[in-house]
Amino acid sequence: MTVKLKRTHMAGTLRSQHVEEKVTLMGWVQKRRDLGGLIFVDLRDRSGIMQIVFDKDVSEEAFTAAEGLGSEYVIAVEGKVFTRQSINPNMPTGEVEIFAETLQILNKAETPPIYIKDDDDVSENLRLKYRYLDLRKPSMQKNLMIRHETAKIVRNFLSEEGFVEVETPVLTKPTPEGARDYLVPSRVNPGKFYALPQSPQLFKQLLMVSGMDRYFQIVKCFRDEDLRADRQPEFTQIDCEMSFVDVEDVIEINERLVEKIFKEVLDVEIQLPLQQMTYEEAMERYGSDKPDVRFGFELVNVSDLVKGCGFKVFTSAIENGGSVRGINVKGYGDKFSRKDITSLEDYVKTYGAKGLAWIKITNEGVTSPIAKFFNEDEMAAILKAFNGEEGDLILFVADKNSVVLDSLGHLRGEVAKRLGLLNKDEYKALWVTEFPLFEYDEEANRFVAKHHPFTSPVEADIPLLETEPEKVRARAYDMVINGYEVGGGSIRIHSSELQEKMFKALGFSQEEAWDQFGFLLNAFKYGTPPHGGIAFGLDRLIMLLTKEENIREVIAFPKTQNASCPLTNAPAVAEEKALEELSIRTVVEE
Ligand code: AMO
Ligand code: AMP
Repeated sequence: MTVKLKRTHMAGTLRSQHVEEKVTLMGWVQKRRDLGGLIFVDLRDRSGIMQIVFDKDVSEEAFTAAEGLGSEYVIAVEGKVFTRQSINPNMPTGEVEIFAETLQILNKAETPPIYIKDDDDVSENLRLKYRYLDLRKPSMQKNLMIRHETAKIVRNFLSEEGFVEVETPVLTKPTPEGARDYLVPSRVNPGKFYALPQSPQLFKQLLMVSGMDRYFQIVKCFRDEDLRADRQPEFTQIDCEMSFVDVEDVIEINERLVEKIFKEVLDVEIQLPLQQMTYEEAMERYGSDKPDVRFGFELVNVSDLVKGCGFKVFTSAIENGGSVRGINVKGYGDKFSRKDITSLEDYVKTYGAKGLAWIKITNEGVTSPIAKFFNEDEMAAILKAFNGEEGDLILFVADKNSVVLDSLGHLRGEVAKRLGLLNKDEYKALWVTEFPLFEYDEEANRFVAKHHPFTSPVEADIPLLETEPEKVRARAYDMVINGYEVGGGSIRIHSSELQEKMFKALGFSQEEAWDQFGFLLNAFKYGTPPHGGIAFGLDRLIMLLTKEENIREVIAFPKTQNASCPLTNAPAVAEEKALEELSIRTVVEE
């Protein structure tokens, strides 16, 4: 009978201070090398890798057993720690090794379909299909640990600040965050559906009515929307709500939370208070409501300077109510050939721009396909507006404002990326404030809430609700880090009258509003504290902390671009009987 071994240490924790100790490790065979009379095995567990030496002179039995070891076998090894003869400075445990006295094979392994190493170049689909193997990689384990550590910091910080974690339902009614709902049929209520929450928005507001004062939850949210590198159909929020607060209170506490996370996880200092920028300023200067302020290339509006010029493209854009703006890629003009500029033009076209005009300033003067359209004064004024100097490249887009801002906003980032200016070790966080309350949905031909319908308007703008809704500013704020929207929230409406007015401005009839949100409007009648809150995208925060470019790298079992799971093959066809019980008939042709 084999003796049952008990693990004494984690493999990655052994150092020279453990020399002479007898230890028992358990883990996976990362690698085996046979050198005649010696077999070297790298044993891996969550904490790292330890070199084990099998030597006939120490234990013939262990040596013989080690001859049969393959990659990813699970083993238990008992032995003594020695100083290594050749120290490996590249490994944390590189000063020591273990001479094995006993070896037990706890489980054999077939040859794994993917290598367990970080820089393995396999398709993401294969990685996700064998996610349990993929997660054995040190980088993936590190990402999950950082995620855990961050969640722990959040829980501790918010608990100390008086927030109480309360769970809210997953089977609920639709919450309008702007995406499509995932619906769940109810067996006992034939023909009726729950919606999975897009966020706990309404419940956290109800908890304020309940007098919970400060709520938080680390919570799964579900949104059926087009997926991108920073979007998953199910994702996690750090969700908060507070009573008796204004914008500045929510901002103050949440920027301290973010400061603490970066300090404790990365030892990075975030300077407080964070910069605050209104939505209007962010759009004017960066063409984006989530500006990456690690680099310049700010937008300049030159409409006034070129409105009388001879370039039809520019003048007609302005005449049609649009604008002409540009960015100065300062000092990097010689990094962009004509071919490069053409490729930037193709890039802005994906954002609806019709072209990309440019002026390059070289030691021979100005070169530009549009120089001929400007007189001397106009050219001088343009250069002055951009502070144009030798070595600069100025890029222009003329169109309606939304296209100009969107394409130049993205172009800034693209140019910075091509120039290698996006330093992942640098974190620039800021608040974007005073978002518009509404935005116009051209498809639906009506105003929709920019944040969500429970966001409070700026008090001075309330009279505009009925007359000029597009001008109403919201008491809403987003936290932006390096061009990512990592969190967003607002002060809420807390009176049923104002809430009804808001629904009206959004085109709901009174009946529709009461039908969908009557429970909230009712609750507001019984003494509602002024309240507000925020939700951070935990996955996005972790993505920044781990310097990953895709949110899937920080989620244990993520979905692919088409919202499926290669590991479990979800979503799948349901059994006929289950559908029958749910009173559901599908109409998809197989
Ligand atoms: P919002 O819709 O802005 O606000 O969401 C809050 C934050 O959640 C993250 N996020 C996502 N992350 C990954 N995948 C997604 N599909 C996804 N969608 C959103 C973003 C975003 O900033 N109830 C309000 C919050 C409030 O008002 O308090 C809400 O959900 O980082
Ligand atoms: P064209 O007169 O069409 O040959 O265009 C001359 C230059 O203006 C080219 O560099 C085009 O890319 C650029 N251009 C065309 N349309 C626009 C636009 N809407 N905004 C900015 N530049 C444009």
